[in-house]
Order: sequence, then C-alpha cells, then structure tokens
Amino acid sequence: MKALLRLLACLGAGLPLAAATIPLSSLDLAHLRQGWGTPQIDRTVTGKPMSIAGHPYAAGIGTHARSVLWVDLGGTCDRFQAWVGVDDAAGSDKASVRFQVVADGEKLFDSGVRHSGEAAVRVDVPLTGRRELVLLALGAGDGIDFDHADWAEAVFLMASGHPVSIPVPDEEPVMLTPPPGPAPRINGPTVHGCRPGHPFLYRIPTTGERPIRFAAEALPDGLHLDRDRGILGGTAPVAGEYDVTLRAANPHGEASFRFRIVAGDKLALTPPMGWNHWYAHYNRITDAMMREAADLMVRTGMADVGYQYVSIDDCWMNAPKHDDPLRVGPLRDEHGEILCNRHFPDMPALTAHIHAYGLKAGIYTSPGPLTCAGFAGTYQHEEQDARTFARWGFDLLKYDWCSYGGVATGEGRERLMKPYRQMGDILQGMPRDIVLNLCQYGMGDVWEWGAEVGGQSWRTAGDLGFELNRVFEVALKNAEHRAWNGPGAWNDPDYIQIGHIGNARGMGEPVPCPLGPNEQYAFMSLWCLMAAPLFYSGDMASLDPFTLNVLCNPELIAINQDPLGQCARVIDLNEETFLMLKDLADGSKALGFFNRGEFPTRITAAWSALGLAGPQSLRDLWRQQDLGRFRDRYTTEVPRRGCVVLRVGSAK
Ligand code: GLA
Repeated sequence: MKALLRLLACLGAGLPLAAATIPLSSLDLAHLRQGWGTPQIDRTVTGKPMSIAGHPYAAGIGTHARSVLWVDLGGTCDRFQAWVGVDDAAGSDKASVRFQVVADGEKLFDSGVRHSGEAAVRVDVPLTGRRELVLLALGAGDGIDFDHADWAEAVFLMASGHPVSIPVPDEEPVMLTPPPGPAPRINGPTVHGCRPGHPFLYRIPTTGERPIRFAAEALPDGLHLDRDRGILGGTAPVAGEYDVTLRAANPHGEASFRFRIVAGDKLALTPPMGWNHWYAHYNRITDAMMREAADLMVRTGMADVGYQYVSIDDCWMNAPKHDDPLRVGPLRDEHGEILCNRHFPDMPALTAHIHAYGLKAGIYTSPGPLTCAGFAGTYQHEEQDARTFARWGFDLLKYDWCSYGGVATGEGRERLMKPYRQMGDILQGMPRDIVLNLCQYGMGDVWEWGAEVGGQSWRTAGDLGFELNRVFEVALKNAEHRAWNGPGAWNDPDYIQIGHIGNARGMGEPVPCPLGPNEQYAFMSLWCLMAAPLFYSGDMASLDPFTLNVLCNPELIAINQDPLGQCARVIDLNEETFLMLKDLADGSKALGFFNRGEFPTRITAAWSALGLAGPQSLRDLWRQQDLGRFRDRYTTEVPRRGCVVLRVGSAK
C-alpha cells in the first residue's frame, strides 16, 4: 500500500520513480582507489564530521584525490545525486578537487575545479538505461596535497535492483614486445665505466639462439673474452677510453656492436639494471633464493637485454629479535666482523655463483645501528664492513638511512650528507668497483648532493611499494629532479614492481601485482624515459610471459641505457595526460604519450611544442614497428592508464 502511494505521489509530482534509495556509503568501498588514506563512511578522509563551506553533512563518503570508484548499477537506476566539494578539514588553500561522473564512458557531470571554502555543487544525473558508473575525484592538475574530497548525501535512486562497486574492469594483457629473433642481437649499453686495476666483469647482453660464438676486437690489455659465454673478464685497463667491437655469431647471422670501455673514476655510466629481492621476499630471503634469482636472470633472458645486478636487500644479517629463529644471533664476532644469519652460510660462495654467469652482486646495510627491518647495521663499523663486502665479492651497496636518525650528529644538510660521504670515501678506496645507492627517501634534496658524496644513485622518495596506485604521480615528481640526472648520477624512484610481488605493508608472500597490464607498460616506459635505475623487484620464480614482455623489450631498454643519460622532460601536463620527451645521444628523441585517466583518449604531439622542425620519422618502440614520416604532429589513441612510446627522428 505504501509503495503504491509513493508511486502515485511520484507520478503526480513528475518525480523519478525510485523504488529504493541506496546510499553510496552502503556499497563495498574496498574497490575504491584513492591517492591518500582510506575512504570513510559519513566522515571526511581524516575521520572528522563532513563539512563543505561551513555546511555540515551527516552522510556520504569522505575520500581523497585522486579517487576512482567503478559501480555496476545492477538494475534500473533512475538518478545519482550528491553534493560534492572540498571538505573544510582540508585546511589549506592548496586543496583543489575536480569531481566527475561518467556513465558507460560518457561524462555526465563535471564540477570544474573546486577549492577549499567553496560551496558544495549539486550532482543530479539521470541514469535510466545506463549500466556502469564511474565516480572520480581528481587532483585538478596541481597535485593531490590536501585534496580531501566529499561525496555528501550521495545516493542512487533505484527503480529496481541494487548497485554494487566493482574492481576496475580487466584489460587484455596484450603482448607488445615481439619475441627475439634467432639471429644474435647485441644489446646495450654502449658504454661501461670501470676503475683501473680493479677486477672487470661484464656479460655481453645478447639475444638469439644459443650456442652463440663471441669475438671482441681491440680489447685493452688486461681484458679477455670467454668466447662461448660472451663474458668479458680480467683486470680493468689503465685510465682511458677504449673503443671495442663486439661480435656475436650463430648459424642465423652475425651481429656487431661498438662498445666503449671508460677506465677512470666514474661508475654506472648508464643506469644500473638488475633485480632486488625486497618487494618479493622481504624477511624471507635466503641464499638459495638469491642463487635461483641469478639462475633465472639468465634462463628467462633478462640477462640478454641487460639486467645485471642480483641484489640482496635487508635481512641477511642477524637481528636481536625476530620471528624466524634462524635470523636471530650475535650481530658481530669478537673482532667486530658482521655476521650473516643462518640463511646465508657462505657469502663468497654466493657471489661466486652470481659472478660465474658474468653477473654482479649487490648487498645492503644501514649507517645506523639497525636496518629498517631491525637487523644489524653498520654504525661504527663502516670501514670494516665495506672491506668485508669487498672481500665477499659484492659490486653494489644500498646504504639505507633507517635508524641512523637516532645517532646522527651535525646540522641541516651536513647531518644528512655525513654518513653517505663517509661511505662514499671508503668505497673509493676499495680494491673493487662498488656502486653506491643512497637510500634515504629524498631527504634534504639528495639529488643536489648525492653525486658529490660519492653516490651513483639515490632514492628520490619513500618506498614505492606503499604507493603503487600513484606510479604516474611518483614518476612526475621524480622527473622534477631531472637536472641532476646524468652518467654516473641517477635519480632512483625505486624498483619496478610488476608480476608477482608481496604487499609492502604486510611484507606478504608474492601475489599478482595490483597494476593492470596498461599500467605495467606505463611503469616500465616512465622508468626508461626518466633514465632511472632499472631493478625488477618481483618474484623471479613466477615470472610469466607477459611480465617478461614488459621487462625485456630491448628497444625500450636502449632508451633507458642511452649514454647521454638524460631524464625526459614533461610536456603538455594536463589533468589526465602528458608527454615525456628525452634527447638521445644519436640526435633522435624518445617520446612517451601517457594517459593516467580511466578511459582511452587521443593525445597529439605537435612538433613545434617539442622544439622539432620538419617531418619526423616515427617508430613505435613497444611494437618495434616503423610508423612512417609525419609532417608536423602525431596523434595517437592511448589506452586507459597506459602509454605509447615512440622514437622520433633519425635512428632505429
Ligand atoms: C627501507 C627501504 C626499502 C627496503 C627496506 C628494508 O624501507 O626504503 O627499499 O630496503 O627499508 O628494510
């Protein structure tokens, strides 16, 4: 009877017929993705009562840009209604949010940019006949700081059925990288730095059907080539530049490659590439897993496109206390020597296993008394530990601030530089090349002084594992420091986390990563265009063909390894799209088209905006296909959350 009365009342008043009013806050918000915090029911993102421009709202959801919620309308939905705005609790005039409502791909509502203190805007969109809705609270182009976004009194007026939130619809994991051909192809880098008189080891990254027979012309004195395995070894020559021609042959063909060995002071003339255990294995890492990672780096073909370092992160030492009794024990012996835990019985044997492939080994410690995971740090044993690492045969050291804050002395930037300068100096004096990776999360604008204290790379921000939903934003931030990027000096936005990784917060077992296929291509492309260190940090044992196709495209990697070492500049940055342009040593350029929006879009690059004149030849690097010559611009469809990457100009 009640329902009939309501029906008659609605018809009489010309109102939409709503059999039920379903609050947005009653949907499962686990599928809502947002740039900061977690969604709150009937509260702001920080848990306070909702209020927009002084007007209180008792119901709704409080979220934070950039936030995205997909909803399957699950029946006949007449309307979606809400009041939207920046919550007063944002407390900053930097807060700005743009709300959008999209149904079946069509934008039905756009609030424009809303600032703190501005009155809420009414959303009231008809949805009859629609199936899927997307609610967006975007950062309005100026970053997402303070962007507390409210969907107040948000309701679905349903004629029938019930709306449900859904995960982002699946994308096809399309394989873009063509499989390597049977003929040999020698991959970059084209330059390699080393210090005179130190042990030299370099596996020539080469795809093609094995066995391959290698040759080298004009090798400097002290170096020799293992012709069957393609590994250069020996002792680095006296200071100088040596132009070597490398050759690789099999019954399908022969490749030759100009390779410059630069013996001098500088290491890491191109961004270091490799694998690091952290985001896959956390405090479960063992000697056996490290060996397996090295085996797999070769077996999967990663070593053939340039991945080289096999790096242990935290948790190889003893801890004062830990759930795993095999990781608990004395931190040092009676001579002050650092002790490995029982999962690492023989470090020299482990590095020998890695070196036997021509690969390199990385290790980790902290200048503090304890590492970030609570294991023995290097504090007051700096020189001793560096000697130990060199004796064990390590080629890279990640030096992680962690507990050092508790013992640091000095003021301001000097306080931050001190432990790194100390280790930088110590490593200079070691009898082998050890690349130094500064890990202190970007404190004190480390990009400005990381090279000065002896680092070859430095993390520019906190752990990316905590911010995987912000890969585009983290990259854009990292690219702001592009002026300090160059040969031997690399901004490090953290590791590539695709394939199987563990949840960084819970240090879980590896599971499929939360990024969609397009986002994974974008992740790799951003890192290549920025000339960032390329360390894969997922489970090597569960690498699948799709993940390998993202990690192992030699034409993309050549952009990362380009000897000019330039980080791309960002052009045409809009709410959803941007371009990245990187100069390359041969005069050509790499151009990335990025779409961080929820829907495919067309992006145009005009040569004039890129500083280019005249027709340009284009090559699609993911597909490894020439596209032809284009007079003054190029427009391409870019998938949702994805990218297109081109080489522009002369060379392949
Ligand atoms: C910090 C670093 C990570 C990782 C962990 C290990 O969080 O930033 O990269 O090394 O410590 O505990």
